[in-house]
Amino acid sequence: MHKIAVGGLLTTTGLLTLTAAPAAADVRQAPDCAEVECVALTFDDGPGEHTDELLDMLDEHDAKATFYVLGSKIDAYTDVVRRMVDQDHEVGNHTWDHADLATLSADQIKDDLKRTDQAIERATGQEPATMRPPYGSLDDTARGAIDKPMLLWDVDTLDWQHRDPAKTVDITTRETGQGSVVLFHDIHKTSVEAIPEVLDRLSDEGYEFVTVSEMMGSDMVGGTAYSDARSMD
Ligand code: NI
Repeated sequence: MHKIAVGGLLTTTGLLTLTAAPAAADVRQAPDCAEVECVALTFDDGPGEHTDELLDMLDEHDAKATFYVLGSKIDAYTDVVRRMVDQDHEVGNHTWDHADLATLSADQIKDDLKRTDQAIERATGQEPATMRPPYGSLDDTARGAIDKPMLLWDVDTLDWQHRDPAKTVDITTRETGQGSVVLFHDIHKTSVEAIPEVLDRLSDEGYEFVTVSEMMGSDMVGGTAYSDARSMD
């Protein structure tokens, strides 16, 4: 993609190519998950008032994560959503307002996801590559209406329920394996408070923190549901 853009500029003016070239050095080189142990930390239902602090924590560890945001919350947190992308995190579609997609018609689902895609694209300049259905709820109508890869999870921290940072750390470290997708909710202070220790402990075990798309790569198929990288084999 980048090479094509530079090539296009070359045909118009050499000067622009010179100024565009250093940007290539800024492109993130993601770890190779075939060589190292990878985990995808995912944060749902935000952005919220604790998300900026979470981004500081992730940045400190050079950890990348995936945020399944609600379209309805983007206007209030445009800078935070833009910061996610600037720091090489992934922003995914978690619907406009957390509807249970199994209760909607195909047209309602498509409209909801499109409206959310557009809000994310307005804030970040990028259309999300993946989506996550609220509650993990999908029926045949929803599966047929959704054309992005649908990302579920294999490690559920239940952070929204117990609101206990120690429990969140405990479940995450106990259940995470190579290629896991871990579910958190960054709208809760107690979930964000767990993250420094989650990063320390998993890092000590040798895990690299990557985005869902970095970990699952181009092998993901639109309209297919995945719980973790192992579910792709
Ligand atoms: Ni949710």
